Amino acid sequence: MDRRGFIRTCGSAAALSFLSPLFLTETLKAQTNKLKKYKKAILLNKSGNPLNPEKLEVGRQYLFFYPYRATPAFLINLGEEVKPVEVKLSDGSSYLWPGGVGPKKSIIAFCAICPHQLSFPTPEYSFINYYPKDKPSKAAKRGNVIQCCAHMSIFDPTKGGVVLDGPSEYPLLTIVLSYEGGKLYAVGTLGVERFSDFFDAFRSDLKKMYKSFRKAKKKVDKSVVLPVEEYVNEVIYC
Ligand code: FES
Repeated sequence: MDRRGFIRTCGSAAALSFLSPLFLTETLKAQTNKLKKYKKAILLNKSGNPLNPEKLEVGRQYLFFYPYRATPAFLINLGEEVKPVEVKLSDGSSYLWPGGVGPKKSIIAFCAICPHQLSFPTPEYSFINYYPKDKPSKAAKRGNVIQCCAHMSIFDPTKGGVVLDGPSEYPLLTIVLSYEGGKLYAVGTLGVERFSDFFDAFRSDLKKMYKSFRKAKKKVDKSVVLPVEEYVNEVIYC
């Protein structure tokens, strides 16, 4: 998808939200605060073997696809234990974010689809990215943030993906990980899901990318983890 296509499809997502606010509000309420289990998926390295969490570079952003073939997620090793926190939503409800997993409890994962207007990493561009401690975001004036350059929503990956600044009403959706016998698995999601809006808004792009819409929506039971720059041609920082 080219940049114009991306902006156009973001526009369609905004129009969709505008046309059916009641429906969306009800849907989002219904999906809030739940740990939603999906197929358990083992995370693999590029050779197809179970990913060794010790090999994840600290502060580097990795991508994998979960729970559907077409839904990207960030995997980040923050290098030190990430404690659980309560995440509060604008409707007054909250949920307990479980923090990091892995040998040092330092590994976290979030859906890489921006909860504002659904910007996501494609093979051409990535407007939403993780900025490590040593590469701070200019807008946030700090590192250790996930920032979406489409409309400058900034999220805190160390605190359950909460919104630090910008227009997003919702935190990043958590991808729940488990660490068993030295292997990492994705097991579900936690927070506010916008997958149905994503599939509606990008239906034709996904159909082209995955050869069929049905394949794009297939749930995965394994997922290869790649550094973002090996999947995305132009990683856009702002
Ligand atoms: S799509 Fe608007 S801030 Fe990400």
